[in-house]
Amino acid sequence: MGFHFTSLLLTLLLFSTLHSKSSSETFKCSTPSTCHSLIDYFSPNATTFSHIKTLFSVKNIRSILAANNLPLSTLPNTTIPANQTIKISFPCSCINNTGQSNNEPIYTVQKDDWLSHIAAEVFSGLVTYPEIAAANDIKDVNLIEVGQKLKIPLPCNCDDVDGVKVVHYGHVVKAGSSLELIAQEYGTSKDTLLKLNGVNDSSLLAGQLLDVPLQACNSSVRSDSVDYPLLVANNTYFFTANNCVKCTCNAANNWTLQCEASGIIPSNWSTCPAMQCESTLLSIGNSTTSGCNITTCAYAGFNKTQTIFTTLATRSTCPVTEAPGNYASRIGLSWDFLLISLHLILLLVYLL
Ligand SMILES: *[C@@H]1O[C@H](CO)[C@@H](O)[C@H](O)[C@H]1NC(C)=O
Ligand SMILES: *[C@@H]1O[C@H](CO)[C@@H](O)[C@H](O)[C@H]1NC(C)=O
Ligand SMILES: *[C@@H]1O[C@H](CO)[C@@H](O)[C@H](O)[C@H]1NC(C)=O
Ligand SMILES: *[C@@H]1O[C@H](CO)[C@@H](O)[C@H](O)[C@H]1NC(C)=O
Ligand SMILES: *[C@@H]1O[C@H](CO)[C@@H](O)[C@H](O)[C@H]1NC(C)=O
Ligand SMILES: *[C@@H]1O[C@H](CO)[C@@H](O)[C@H](O)[C@H]1NC(C)=O
Ligand SMILES: *[C@@H]1O[C@H](CO)[C@@H](O)[C@H](O)[C@H]1NC(C)=O
Ligand SMILES: *[C@@H]1O[C@H](CO)[C@@H](O)[C@H](O)[C@H]1NC(C)=O
Ligand SMILES: *[C@@H]1O[C@H](CO)[C@@H](O)[C@H](O)[C@H]1NC(C)=O
Ligand SMILES: *[C@@H]1O[C@H](CO)[C@@H](O)[C@H](O)[C@H]1NC(C)=O
Ligand SMILES: *[C@@H]1O[C@H](CO)[C@@H](O)[C@H](O)[C@H]1NC(C)=O
Ligand SMILES: *[C@@H]1O[C@H](CO)[C@@H](O)[C@H](O)[C@H]1NC(C)=O
Repeated sequence: MGFHFTSLLLTLLLFSTLHSKSSSETFKCSTPSTCHSLIDYFSPNATTFSHIKTLFSVKNIRSILAANNLPLSTLPNTTIPANQTIKISFPCSCINNTGQSNNEPIYTVQKDDWLSHIAAEVFSGLVTYPEIAAANDIKDVNLIEVGQKLKIPLPCNCDDVDGVKVVHYGHVVKAGSSLELIAQEYGTSKDTLLKLNGVNDSSLLAGQLLDVPLQACNSSVRSDSVDYPLLVANNTYFFTANNCVKCTCNAANNWTLQCEASGIIPSNWSTCPAMQCESTLLSIGNSTTSGCNITTCAYAGFNKTQTIFTTLATRSTCPVTEAPGNYASRIGLSWDFLLISLHLILLLVYLL
């Protein structure tokens, strides 16, 4: 009985959220800048990558596969089941304290479309119809024409979080989720989510769009590079240097960005330039081992006149003498804290 009531309530809340909550209220950014952002999309019907590419005006399906860490060999016509979440990668622009997708997606109005349908159903509530109206200077929301092109202002953010550069991800909250679970899944903290979104567990709604900061890998990209600061989120890959370079981020390499020649046709250059580290035989992504030191030829950025920069990055796997206050011991501390908390909870449960 209680359960049914709760799910009914969640369903009602889900619908009221999708139709009324303005996402731009949470996606505030303080520093004018541009960056890449991610956002969840789930189609109420089965769909394909081709369809999502068209809907979100994505130039190449590769970027969708990369944002979802799916193999590049995935066919464009692969069926995506209804309600499966797909992350979309898009350029974000922070102007006037608001983060919005930078002139994309562009949606073409179909027969029998109306603004609230486009906002709530076609784009599954990622935007509201007043936001679409505002982005397109539409005075009368009932007056749109078939064939009209509409800018869809997806919410996003480029701000640092607690002084750290991150990739902002618009996460759609699933029924039965909590800030703690979301924080755990995406490697952030409940406190950060709370501060960034102004929500707590009692105000959290299924279907709500949360700004979740994803950790990005450390890279060797120079500050004078066109793609600086190259931020690739945990468990995603990304194409840069006009598609010549593919960079991957995950925990496996100690949060160091792993880049290599992509082998795909460049987007703005006739060919990909050389990607070798000076005075070595190493190409981007190649490593040599000398004792316990691993030297990698790392990607360091590109410039407009078809140069790709490289640098040698040496990582030591030599056994180190434990220094106080380092990263490892801080992790140990938080585990202790968790264990103590768990024991206290168990104790309380026992006493009650
Ligand atoms: C998807 O496309 C490939 C070739 O591009 C084709 O061989 C295959 O039959 C298609 N699959 C579906 C389910 O349409
Ligand atoms: C998708 O989710 C909605 C509500 O979230 C539900 O009503 C619908 O049955 C789901 N569809 C499928 C195919 O699971
Ligand atoms: C910024 O916001 C203010 C107040 O909301 C508005 O008057 C102004 O036109 C906006 N500027 C831009 C560039 O959007
Ligand atoms: C999903 O399918 C239903 C029935 O086939 C259709 O009425 C609805 O418009 C579709 N929704 C989208 C977003 O394509
Ligand atoms: C990285 O992503 C994996 C898989 O999504 C997740 O399990 C892990 O918690 C994330 N870690 C961080 C620090 O973001
Ligand atoms: C949760 O947030 C709501 C609205 O922001 C507020 O009214 C409520 O007091 C908060 N609850 C807790 C436990 O902080
Ligand atoms: C790499 O990233 C981690 C986490 O973001 C950070 O703690 C560390 O200081 C970085 N290392 C370097 C060499 O920048
Ligand atoms: C991981 O990165 C940190 C910070 O850059 C460094 O201190 C540590 O030695 C690295 N660990 C390994 C195994 O490379
Ligand atoms: C393409 O390259 C030219 C010069 O090589 C540059 O001026 C232009 O900005 C580039 N366009 C893009 C989209 O990178
Ligand atoms: C360097 O990496 C390329 C692929 O990126 C590979 O074909 C080549 O064999 C590697 N060379 C060495 C010396 O490891
Ligand atoms: C490894 O690198 C350190 C400095 O980073 C150097 O002192 C040491 O001699 C190197 N060891 C080997 C075997 O190359
Ligand atoms: C790009 O880098 C190359 C090599 O350092 C340099 O010769 C060229 O002038 C640079 N181009 C620009 C536009 O900075």
